[in-house]
Amino acid sequence: MTDYNFLNPYRFRNGAVVKNRIVMAPMTEMSAHENGAITKDQIDYYGMRSGGVGMELTACAYVTPAGKGFEGNLGVDSDRMIPGLAKLAQAMKLNGTKAILQIFDAGRMTNSKILRGQQPVSASAIAADAQVQKHRAP
Ligand SMILES: Cc1cc2nc3c(=O)[nH]c(=O)nc-3n(C[C@H](O)[C@H](O)[C@H](O)COP(=O)(O)O)c2cc1C
Repeated sequence: MTDYNFLNPYRFRNGAVVKNRIVMAPMTEMSAHENGAITKDQIDYYGMRSGGVGMELTACAYVTPAGKGFEGNLGVDSDRMIPGLAKLAQAMKLNGTKAILQIFDAGRMTNSKILRGQQPVSASAIAADAQVQKHRAP
């Protein structure tokens, strides 16, 4: 008989233990408020999926205002977001699931429409292929 291990706990070197080896991958749902604040829909979405999995990751969340990559992107760029994020963490950690917040910065992959007129900030002045396509004349 096959000896499956994926439902058994796993201990990381730092001592953290996940109750099983099933992880919910980060999946963007584009459901945050325009200012990046978490919505009730998002809290409900993550809450519904906690409990069964050992670990849950949020969709990518931008860390600076110019790092917003798309409409509905979750923002963690300001302390004003903490009360909403605390509710999210609580919902994700229900029944022993470990909660991970995925952080990112869209860099050159965003555009001034998403940034409401602000110029994107990037380590490179070379436009991303996706942005070149969008702004190329037909
Ligand atoms: C709708 C959707 C949204 C996703 N959003 C993110 C994201 O925010 N961050 C990320 O690292 N990966 C994101 N991914 C990638 C997934 O986490 C995962 O790596 C990908 O679906 C491949 O998983 P698989 O090899 O199990 O099929 C997304 C995937 C999908 C389908």
